[in-house]
Amino acid sequence: MKIDILTLFPESFAPFRESIISRAQKAGTIEINITNIRDFSRDKHKKCDDAPFGGGAGMLMSVQPIYDAVKSVLTKNSKVIFPTPAGKVYTSKIAQNLAKQEHLIFICGHYEGIDERLIQLFDAEELSIGDYVLTGGEIPAMVIVDSLLRFVPGVLSEGSLSEESFSNGLLEYPQYTRPQVFEGLAVPEVLVSGNHAEIAKWRKQASIEKTKKNRPDLLKGGEHED
Ligand code: ADE
Repeated sequence: MKIDILTLFPESFAPFRESIISRAQKAGTIEINITNIRDFSRDKHKKCDDAPFGGGAGMLMSVQPIYDAVKSVLTKNSKVIFPTPAGKVYTSKIAQNLAKQEHLIFICGHYEGIDERLIQLFDAEELSIGDYVLTGGEIPAMVIVDSLLRFVPGVLSEGSLSEESFSNGLLEYPQYTRPQVFEGLAVPEVLVSGNHAEIAKWRKQASIEKTKKNRPDLLKGGEHED
């Protein structure tokens, strides 16, 4: 999979030089390119913002530099994504679908946003990472890229995805490691029993309990009630 990220702040993507994502890039499983939108500004001062028609507080990003930056990487198999608090709420299901795409282009917004015609012209998918407003699109783009790459075959080791939160509509069960007793708290007995059927049963029930406590909204279909 190939990912192009268009931003006014390329340095924000330094975390992609670390860990699993860096390893996947070196292995050639994924290719991530970061492009500075400002390099495409035709303004003599490389200006990249402009006032909104109709007035109001703040500035928008200028249309031309973003348009040219997208055009420079766009192919017939590209899907354009615009992270915005006004987008559809991003979920693990959307991540799995995006992971099947050949080429993703992210436009990172700043100031008060981008001209709506860019969304129309590139049929961009608007995605929100939650009901709060961040200062720019870089962190949301990083969140979306990091989470979808985990679903690209070869990025994670085999089996890592099978029991994590949201994989079966529930939150992940609690996990424990050594020592068996820590600060007076013992690991649930069943986990050291060696009885795999009982362990699986305990984990399923513990997943349901955690989901009930932290995300009751996920249970409203009734599928996991017992
Ligand atoms: N840009 C600013 N806030 C955002 C959010 N919550 N989701 C996606 N993009 C954003």
